[in-house]
Amino acid sequence: MMSRTVAVVGGGVIGLSIAWRASRAGWAVTLYDPDVGSGASWVAGGMLAPLSEGWPGEDELLAVGAASLDRWPDFGAELERTTGEVLFTSQSSMTVALDAADAADLRTVAEWLDGRGYHLDLLDRAQIRAAEPSLAPTIRLALLAAAEFAVDNRALVRALRAACTAAGVTFVAQAVTDPESLPADQVVLAAGTAAARLWPGLPVRPVKGEVLRLHHRPGVAPAPSQTIRASVHGRPVYLVPRGDGLVVGATQHESGDDTAVTVAGVRDLIADAQTLMPSIGEYELHETAAGLRPMSPDNLPILGRVTDRVVLAAGHGRNGILLTPLSADAVVAELSGTPLPAAQTCRPERFGTLVSTHE
Ligand code: GLY
Repeated sequence: MMSRTVAVVGGGVIGLSIAWRASRAGWAVTLYDPDVGSGASWVAGGMLAPLSEGWPGEDELLAVGAASLDRWPDFGAELERTTGEVLFTSQSSMTVALDAADAADLRTVAEWLDGRGYHLDLLDRAQIRAAEPSLAPTIRLALLAAAEFAVDNRALVRALRAACTAAGVTFVAQAVTDPESLPADQVVLAAGTAAARLWPGLPVRPVKGEVLRLHHRPGVAPAPSQTIRASVHGRPVYLVPRGDGLVVGATQHESGDDTAVTVAGVRDLIADAQTLMPSIGEYELHETAAGLRPMSPDNLPILGRVTDRVVLAAGHGRNGILLTPLSADAVVAELSGTPLPAAQTCRPERFGTLVSTHE
């Protein structure tokens, strides 16, 4: 029997993972992207932190993020085994408090998570110093998420690309302007912020994030062994370990499709990172970059069918790397006609007009 065909529009980690898994499920897959893996997937930090980034009231986001985090070990291990890439870069995350208000917030999150079955430990100053000696002594409390690991986003792009090739995915280096004209039985839109242009009415907007890549230098204090997150002067900052140093992220600006790295962005990231880790000034500033997060109005991704032929995988916002395995499972389930219960809250129907516009 001839396999059915699917066109995937977008070659970031979401489109690549869908293409890989759909191909393995028996679909003949063509992926369209003029420059695979060059967008937000390449810029990202790779921190997976659905628990410690949670906040009371955001229960659906927590459930979706935790469902994808649960899938990550098997998903990543299979990619590592089949491609030889090393994806996992650290095992846990620590959110740290610099003042009394931050400490109160950490206790609030810990209590809320506890009520939902996730117990995270609070560490005092001595425990923080013992675990991460490079952090500033002014840090007074930390929330340790032992299962929030980080992945190397660039190794992930390479691994998914190799897995797609091995699975028989056809790559077409071409921008798509009219997804419904593509010669395929089914079309999946997984084009990050460009998806809003391809599907009018899709409520996805770009939020720029600037990110630094720092390299360790001989004689300088080693980087933390786990992801460190904090708020400094009201700005979120995180340090994500890499074999050769750290990724420092990220600013947040709503400035359309602008991906310029600004002086102020770099200045703030360095200053905030140095507040957490005083020795960071000795590191090599290896790279600066900016990407566009495809944000949805409720911060949940948009996963599901909008017409008989078109399935959306959009609006992943700050969580594209985290949500990669869940998105692939959800879209492949949708293609086969059996929507995934774990992605029920992500369905496009919650934005009523999306589903009917193109029927
Ligand atoms: N994933 C973290 C961020 O978007 O900054």
